[in-house]
Amino acid sequence: MANLPTRSIIKELLRATSAQHDVRVCGWVRSVRRGKDVVFIALNDGSCQATLQIVVASELLRALTPGALGTGSCIEARGDLVASPAGGQLWELQAGQIVLVGGVDADYPLQKKRHSFEYLRSIAHLRPRANTFGAVFRMRSALSFAVHQFFHERGFLYVHTPIITTNDCEGAGEMFRVTTLDPLSAPRADGRVDWSQDFFGEKAGLTVSGQLQGELFAMAFADIYTFGPTFRAENSNTSRHASEFWMIEPEMAFVDLAGNCLLAEEFFRYLVVYALSHCREDLEFFDQRIEPGLIERLEKLSRAKFHRVTYGEAVDLLKKSGRHFEFPVAWGADLQSEHERYLTEEIFGGPVFVTDYPEQIKAFYMRLNDDNKTVAAMDLLVPRVGEIIGGSQREERLALLEQRMQGHGIDPVSLDWYLDTRRWGSCPHSGFGLGFERLLMYLTGMENIRDVIPFPRTPGQARF
Ligand code: 4AD
Ligand code: MG
Repeated sequence: MANLPTRSIIKELLRATSAQHDVRVCGWVRSVRRGKDVVFIALNDGSCQATLQIVVASELLRALTPGALGTGSCIEARGDLVASPAGGQLWELQAGQIVLVGGVDADYPLQKKRHSFEYLRSIAHLRPRANTFGAVFRMRSALSFAVHQFFHERGFLYVHTPIITTNDCEGAGEMFRVTTLDPLSAPRADGRVDWSQDFFGEKAGLTVSGQLQGELFAMAFADIYTFGPTFRAENSNTSRHASEFWMIEPEMAFVDLAGNCLLAEEFFRYLVVYALSHCREDLEFFDQRIEPGLIERLEKLSRAKFHRVTYGEAVDLLKKSGRHFEFPVAWGADLQSEHERYLTEEIFGGPVFVTDYPEQIKAFYMRLNDDNKTVAAMDLLVPRVGEIIGGSQREERLALLEQRMQGHGIDPVSLDWYLDTRRWGSCPHSGFGLGFERLLMYLTGMENIRDVIPFPRTPGQARF
């Protein structure tokens, strides 16, 4: 059996404890500096932020087309890893051989200078090679692993909930339609599209949340979580909303709202601590280039007290603040992001759970409180990002659940399978959803959700 050709990883080479003979590295050139007899190449292979300095005799490169070995070209280098005589790095590669794997010409759009994030979005196929996006996507990968590790350590079952679904969990009417009908000749009945003739025999769409199916699993496995893509066709062009985003949704049987908040707090803190201990080099980059003070902010959070207020108390605090808001504050109205930001940034100066919202502004599945006016909901608000987690204790009592569905204009027959869990072996249970991109915005200091997801989908934008 042939061995895999060995390619050394730059991250490992930079941590070497001794010189190494005949090393092979591959990657993309970040910069080239030509001396009198030697050329210095800064090479990056995506394994870390830092580059490996490659030192090669000019004459070895003479055969190459001038310019082809510029910023962005792909090369393979072989040589010896030796202690670097110059400052700036511990190790460098004295190359005896350079192969140009893929050259560049002067049109390469990612030249070595600072580009705006807006421009980089227009070349999303190349931006993973830019410093900032290297850091973002390494962190995204590391934190995905941390999510699974957190739940795995606690014995939660990981369940894959469907992406195509016939129910709108949040009831906000923001589903993308999934259909094979021809829009020009869709079959009609009574003047409307006859969805019974569509692929699934009924109206289907992309899921806005895996929660309802997650609940079914929680009533068999007690502690479960989902982690997958979710879709929302809301036409809001903000820096915190995407049409396709990833959500982590734990669901726990035998847990009430207070226990739900405890898990959310523990989870969020775990992810922050994980980033601090596993993504140091990238965090230092964000601290220097994106948000000065980031690391200190995260360290503070890892020790911070998470505050708790009820919606009613939050409304009173906002009213008393004397601050002028664009949207007026009134009991019964949903909190706008300006209110959320004010609560977490100005009033509490840290993370705060807002609980017990009025029944009519929250989804049908939330458990009615004894006051008959509010539900056992919770949102976790954090500085800079606002709402990062939304969750609740679920209504486990059949009659009350049916009542709430009717109040929200949802036909109980359409969710008969969901109601069955309340008919047979029902139990108190709770869960929440953490927006993965919002978490990454919080951890990196990046200000636009489009810059923490590889290929963003937002209104008018699904290229790449
Ligand atoms: O508050 P949401 O809508 O809650 C749910 O979907 C529940 N079913 C979760 C549950 O209880 N299992 O969404 C949860 C989180 C928000 O707090 C936010 O972080 C994120 O998902 N989110 C979005 N992130 C990016 N773009 C959007 N359009 C988002 N909408 C929600
Ligand atoms: Mg929400």
